[in-house]
Amino acid sequence: MKICVLPGDGIGPEITAQALRVLAALRSDGLPIEIEQALIGGSAVDAEGVPLPASTLGLAGEADAVLLGAVGGPKWDGLPRDRRPERGLLGIRKSLELFANLRPAILYPELANASTLKPEVVAGLDIMIVRELTGDIYFGQPRGIEQRDGETVGFNTMIYSEAEIRRIARVAFDIAMKRSRRLCSVDKMNVLECTQLWRDVVTEEAKSYPDVELSHMLVDNAAMQLVRNPKQFDVMVTGNMFGDILSDEASMLTGSIGMLPSASLDAANKGMYEPSHGSAPDIAGKGLANPLATILSVAMMLRYTFGQEEAAARVEDAVKRVLAEGLRTADIHEKGKRQVGTAAMGDAVLAAL
Ligand code: IPM
Ligand code: MG
Repeated sequence: MKICVLPGDGIGPEITAQALRVLAALRSDGLPIEIEQALIGGSAVDAEGVPLPASTLGLAGEADAVLLGAVGGPKWDGLPRDRRPERGLLGIRKSLELFANLRPAILYPELANASTLKPEVVAGLDIMIVRELTGDIYFGQPRGIEQRDGETVGFNTMIYSEAEIRRIARVAFDIAMKRSRRLCSVDKMNVLECTQLWRDVVTEEAKSYPDVELSHMLVDNAAMQLVRNPKQFDVMVTGNMFGDILSDEASMLTGSIGMLPSASLDAANKGMYEPSHGSAPDIAGKGLANPLATILSVAMMLRYTFGQEEAAARVEDAVKRVLAEGLRTADIHEKGKRQVGTAAMGDAVLAAL
């Protein structure tokens, strides 16, 4: 079990440090875990001048799985586009062909008050957003900013091939088969040809999954329905940009983006695992960040890449237990609970494990 750990920037090093403790504990209990660490994002720009050094990509490529903290921060915001930390993240997704991004939005019963929505709207929420991650307007050519007829224009290309749509649709249908067998595909086919093709291909692929009930929804309506009645959704599948936006929205239904892990998988279930939240530069280095999303990302890694369901459930149960014991980092704190920092939360998870 070769794992490449990329702490990244901001709170990244602090939260991955706690996940590394969990991995070390699992290793002492017998899992053959090997760890390598490398630089990505702004820390790689500072050390080597580029956000994704070839050595990092090499290590990540050889590993069975990658655990990423977070990238980016105001320090690097002024850099040219090709050297920005985010480019490191997009580069590793594309190079390793991690086209299937799984972003669960689960409301832990203990955290029902953390949501800004009424408890009855979100209680029991458990949505899985399947976001295509290596295509769409994020990578489409042509793109740029240039002079046309004496004025400056900016442009990007939204593009999907049939094969790209088909492979992400299959991932989503397979996941739906393991859950409630309901899948909602999100597009903007009333305006965009690219997503007309998306709807056509997903509809065609549904024929191979007669047990899954497929529905379609326009993205603007989906954004609205997510706050109106989120529990109507189980598995959602959508393109890269719509998935970026809807997954942030869905995560906040749970009130605690600091709790949500994610997986980005290739065709062979090799994956990169990362918390859904960002690098939180405002609290970096203060020992305040919530390490649970990163620890839960380790659980996803154990499940999806290594097929270690038992170990995955053990990590998830440990997290549930510390929540039940009343421990809270600042982002999920409420009156009557015990507020702890990053390391103390890690201590509690290890003890529960
Ligand atoms: C995400 C992030 C990234 C994205 C950024 C940091 C490039 O927002 O993982 O959702 O847009 O994909
Ligand atoms: Mg995003």
